[in-house]
Amino acid sequence: MVIRNNHKKSRGLWNTRLGFILAASGSAVGLGNIWKFPYIVGQNGGGAFVLIYILCTIAVGLPIMLAEFTIGRKTCLNPVGAFQSLKPKSHWVKIGYMGVLAGFFILSFYAVVGGWTLAYVVKAFTHTMSNFSSPKEAGQFFGSFIGNTWEVLFYHALFMAICVGIVLRGIHGGIEKACKVLMPTLVIILIFLMFRALTLPGAMEGIEFYLKPDFSKIGPQTILIALGQAFFSLSLGMGCMLTYGSYLPEQENLTSATVYVVIFDTVIALLVGMVIFPAVFAMGLEPTEGPSLVFSVLPAVFVGMPFGNLVSIIFFTLLAIAAITSGISLLEVVVAYFIDQRKWDRKKAVLVTSVTIFAFGVPSGLSFGVLSEAKLFDMNFFDHVDNIASNYLLPLGGMLTAIFVGWVWGTKSAEEEIEKYETKFHWGHVWGFLIRYISPVAVFLVFCAKFV
Ligand code: PFF
Repeated sequence: MVIRNNHKKSRGLWNTRLGFILAASGSAVGLGNIWKFPYIVGQNGGGAFVLIYILCTIAVGLPIMLAEFTIGRKTCLNPVGAFQSLKPKSHWVKIGYMGVLAGFFILSFYAVVGGWTLAYVVKAFTHTMSNFSSPKEAGQFFGSFIGNTWEVLFYHALFMAICVGIVLRGIHGGIEKACKVLMPTLVIILIFLMFRALTLPGAMEGIEFYLKPDFSKIGPQTILIALGQAFFSLSLGMGCMLTYGSYLPEQENLTSATVYVVIFDTVIALLVGMVIFPAVFAMGLEPTEGPSLVFSVLPAVFVGMPFGNLVSIIFFTLLAIAAITSGISLLEVVVAYFIDQRKWDRKKAVLVTSVTIFAFGVPSGLSFGVLSEAKLFDMNFFDHVDNIASNYLLPLGGMLTAIFVGWVWGTKSAEEEIEKYETKFHWGHVWGFLIRYISPVAVFLVFCAKFV
């Protein structure tokens, strides 16, 4: 027990329960909620998609998040070390390696988009975006910005540098402290923006599109997209929540923490929709634009509204904050691996991994400029890395984690760990059923659908 406690302390611990919940929510709430969620809803029929997304989150996401927290707290290790300690020298350890690799891949392109958000904060501050007359113009502006090699690289590096600055300070002094300031700021900004958007004339049309389910647009493909989005948005399938769980002090209540984080992430995504759709409809624009919705439609939307420039600054600050609190969690997974398994000190681990991740991300950053012609199967480098990590590594990692906990390590052992510091886990049998049958089968079916 003493050795375990010393080991825990030397790796770092969350100082408070709130700090942990904010950090885990910070990881979950990110570009996935603010950049991806609205355009995916816009392209997949609005309200009906939202319902399916919520269902996937509850039936598949929530049980897997609890599983990850449990493995993390039980082993106090990074993903590779955790599977190694529960099933030494087995093939299951590969889930851990896959997770670390996914973290590496995701951060490499995530930091590029994170850089775009920082650039847009600066551009909004300097009034560079205050005279668009149409979304087309805003779109051209965005296109020429992401094609500008040096500007993109500069902001990409700046984003990585911010993450490095936080992660270098460790769990409590860096990640927890940053999230305790940034997450409440994010919520306040979001509420302000929602108020602004909902009071625009014509806002209700957007709300109707967003909340009225149109089931004619739903097919197998939609469920696939919803499930993939749930994994990405909840930071599941790559051991990120496992790693955050490994810094938990013993007495933490895991089930309630899981429920809080899932609710936080889902509510934020839903509220972001309440900002974007009313604003887009009020300005007479279309929400089906795709990935450029946030960067090229919204700036044009802001130009048309009272206090538009201020709203623009605030919106892109929101986006940047969300990206940073997720970026640090991605970096932490890779860093934790080198600290625990390779016995590097934190400084070396952070510096070496972040420089490598940045370098690997450079071709992603240039994928919309000098490397835009370099395509394989009609996708550029950025798209390939995103596709491999988000559509394959995360769901596969989530499915294998569910199988591992449900069938190999066993729900009984997991429940023992969960119940160690809390009163009876009343939902144990429901959770056991979801993690053994529903989560793996759902992900498996999604994979089959993808290949058929
Ligand atoms: N959940 C983050 C988002 O929604 O943007 C992205 C992410 C972070 C995915 C951390 C995976 C992860 F481990």
